[in-house]
Amino acid sequence: MSIIEVNGLQKEFLIAKRETGFMGALRSLVKREFIKKEAVKDISFTIEKGEMVGYIGPNGAGKSTTIKMLTGILVPSAGNVLVNGIIPYENRQENAKNIGVVFGQRTQLWWDLPTIESFELLKAIYRVPDQRYKENMDIFKEILGLDEFLNTPVRQLSLGQRMRADIGASLLHDPPILFLDEPTIGLDVVAKEKMRTFIQEINRERNVTVILTTHDMEDIEKLCKRMVLIDHGQKVYDGEILAVKERFGKMRTLVVDLEEAQKPLYVSGGEICKQEGNRRWIRFNRDEISASELITQISQTHNITDLTVEEPDIESIISRIYQEGFTEPQFV
Ligand SMILES: Nc1ncnc2c1ncn2[C@@H]1O[C@H](COP(=O)(O)OP(=O)(O)OP(=O)(O)O)[C@@H](O)[C@H]1O
Ligand SMILES: [Mg+2]
Repeated sequence: MSIIEVNGLQKEFLIAKRETGFMGALRSLVKREFIKKEAVKDISFTIEKGEMVGYIGPNGAGKSTTIKMLTGILVPSAGNVLVNGIIPYENRQENAKNIGVVFGQRTQLWWDLPTIESFELLKAIYRVPDQRYKENMDIFKEILGLDEFLNTPVRQLSLGQRMRADIGASLLHDPPILFLDEPTIGLDVVAKEKMRTFIQEINRERNVTVILTTHDMEDIEKLCKRMVLIDHGQKVYDGEILAVKERFGKMRTLVVDLEEAQKPLYVSGGEICKQEGNRRWIRFNRDEISASELITQISQTHNITDLTVEEPDIESIISRIYQEGFTEPQFV
């Protein structure tokens, strides 16, 4: 059995239909109409112990809704979820012992209390033994630098501090599974890097299974071997990130500045995908033609004053998949 098993998962929300105008408002009072919103249509995947998986997709794809079903906050409309052998929504308390959760958008800590008190409350809630609590706190103080703000109320923490406090708190009871929903959102470059290092260490040293949702492809690339890509509530890819890079990363763009740009340019083996002033962007597949072949070709008709070759990073690959779907790249 895998540590996480999701099968045919669905979630629909009923959203009250709002009518406009005074009469509309009256009608809505008497008889409410609902629109069905299918947030998660049909999602299946399994995750093995110790894996760190990127769960990604555009805004509104259904990522947070999935995570909420895995944590037991939401009840699925159909399908099955098993987290460490437990059905989360039927057994929220048991499930809570096995999972740590961080929603980057919202803190799980008590807003008005000094940060340390949230930790102490969680210690009591999860019945963390004194010795273990101390050990964990020592580690988190050291790696997450909690010391500098433990006595500050959560509401006064900076975003980066709050995120560090949240992730520390989520791991206080040594859960084997960690759900991170946008744990680096809004953090500066340095704070992001620290957060990534911490997540990596937790995964490596404690063999914690991690599901990570983020819009930052650098998070995914640095932390995960595997990604599950979803769109409109459905899974569109599940596999190695390297394989996606291999498949989509063959495309290169040659950017050339031409001396006589008014003279028409023809290239074979590549596609002029953009032009601006003297500059031309030529997309090509590096398996079919090399940049130098293209350059030789162009220089037969034009003087090139400057050139660069752009390689796609995972960020641009993913954004293309969002826009064009998961099809083979098109080119001449
Ligand atoms: N409680 C709710 N009631 C009604 N609709 C909801 C609710 N929660 C989510 N939705 C809708 O379900 C869809 C999926 O939302 P979800 O929050 O899972 O997306 P997401 O992938 O996490 O997006 P983002 O990247 O913006 O965080 C959206 O269209 C959203 O408006
Ligand atoms: Mg979300």
